[in-house]
Amino acid sequence: MKLVLATRNAHKLEEIQAIFDFQGLEVLSAFDFPDVPDVVEDKETLEGNAVKKAVEVAQATGCWALADDSGLEVAALDGAPGVYSARYAGDHCSYADNNVKLLKELADKDDRSAQFRTVLALSDPQGKAQTLEGACPGKIIEELRGTNGFGYDPLFIPEGHSGTFAELDAAIKNKISHRARALQKAAVEWAALLSSL
Ligand code: IMP
Repeated sequence: MKLVLATRNAHKLEEIQAIFDFQGLEVLSAFDFPDVPDVVEDKETLEGNAVKKAVEVAQATGCWALADDSGLEVAALDGAPGVYSARYAGDHCSYADNNVKLLKELADKDDRSAQFRTVLALSDPQGKAQTLEGACPGKIIEELRGTNGFGYDPLFIPEGHSGTFAELDAAIKNKISHRARALQKAAVEWAALLSSL
């Protein structure tokens, strides 16, 4: 049985494949199914979007599918940008646009605490899905630092570290990140299921 990673985000794919041991499963990605349309992420929660991505890709490909929906939740902004993290600065905006907007919104805030959160959804080919999540607490700094990673990485310092996700080695981010923590849980909670595929 094949497992499809339900994303066309190359950064995410690279991280998921570096973090998770798929133990002999044949792993494909949405790039291998160019005819399957992009999933419209129109739900109001990370969980809603993760399930939608996993279910639509599983049903379209006839394979099991694993999806990740992640967001940055900033305390002083009441959890924003959250589920809207990808298009915080508007439709079709860049990572740089989002970072500029985040710095602007936080300009007069003393509380810079934030967390990244990932919800993973795993769907069978019929569209029956289950979820689990991981989070990484930290803070937002006042200027961009570092060039690794993607998205809000240059502005986020994870708790217990002095460098941003964009300054830390990928190997370190991939041990402590929201995505890593969710995948570490998946390795335990979904081990039997995945090894039976
Ligand atoms: P989605 O899960 O593809 O909807 O991701 C939403 C957005 O959250 C991305 O476009 C990034 O801006 C941000 N994001 C998700 N994961 C990360 C990460 O690991 N580092 C930095 N930004 C991230």
